[in-house]
Amino acid sequence: MTVHYLPGAARRRPTAVIVVAAGSGQRLGEAQPKAFVRLDDRTILQHAIAPIAKLDAVDSIVVVVPVDLMVRARLDTMFGKPRVQVIAGGAQRSDSVRAGLEYIAANNPETEIVLVHDAARPLTPAAQFGRVIDAVSGGRRAVVPGLPVADTLKEVADGSSVVIATLNRDALRAIQTPQGFSIDAIRRAYADPSGLATDDAGLAELAGIPVDIVDGDAMAFKITTQWDLRVARIVVAESSPSELP
Ligand code: CTP
Ligand code: MG
Repeated sequence: MTVHYLPGAARRRPTAVIVVAAGSGQRLGEAQPKAFVRLDDRTILQHAIAPIAKLDAVDSIVVVVPVDLMVRARLDTMFGKPRVQVIAGGAQRSDSVRAGLEYIAANNPETEIVLVHDAARPLTPAAQFGRVIDAVSGGRRAVVPGLPVADTLKEVADGSSVVIATLNRDALRAIQTPQGFSIDAIRRAYADPSGLATDDAGLAELAGIPVDIVDGDAMAFKITTQWDLRVARIVVAESSPSELP
């Protein structure tokens, strides 16, 4: 990869996006893993990659899929620039991210910024990737997109239906992907093999790395259940090609 140093202009930092698509989609309950379910004539994974492939700021895309679907994924993603690399994932999401980080360390050692994105958020606009990349380029070490919470959230006692508190919604954000990191921050976040968190930034927090929030977007919702799949299919069917990421 050629990195151009422009006098007077900020140097663009080599950026890689890991798209994790190795989950089985238990809660969706389709016959095939979630990323390989179609929204229209294209799969969830193909939709997820489309906005990333358009971004000049992205140098490499690493797609992590179930080991038995690597050939299928290579055929499905043989388009766009930069070229997509397909590798095998692991049992947990964090194992799949780790596989992506190891691939980058071995094959793209010049990488300075890493974004981790759920394939299960196939309608995420390119602008959301841009906001995350800009914030990390500007010096933030860990950046996540977040949205204000619309519902009232109540805390219940473990395993019960008894409300013990109503949370202050104004102080809460619903977090999406892509989550962006400087390479040293994500290496440190993933250095502890026992770290337990539901997202990548959670591991960064555990490692003492400050995490910043940028604006998320409703279109970046995650397909988890059949309801979400139905919404995504309706949005795709009702959108003109120029409105889709
Ligand atoms: N993921 C992954 N490797 C895993 C588990 C999850 O790459 N071992 C990815 C999924 O493919 C998805 C993203 O992480 O793009 C978010 O996970 P989730 O929505 O939970 O997807 P699944 O794990 O596939 O769904 P479920 O939990 O319902 O089985
Ligand atoms: Mg899961």
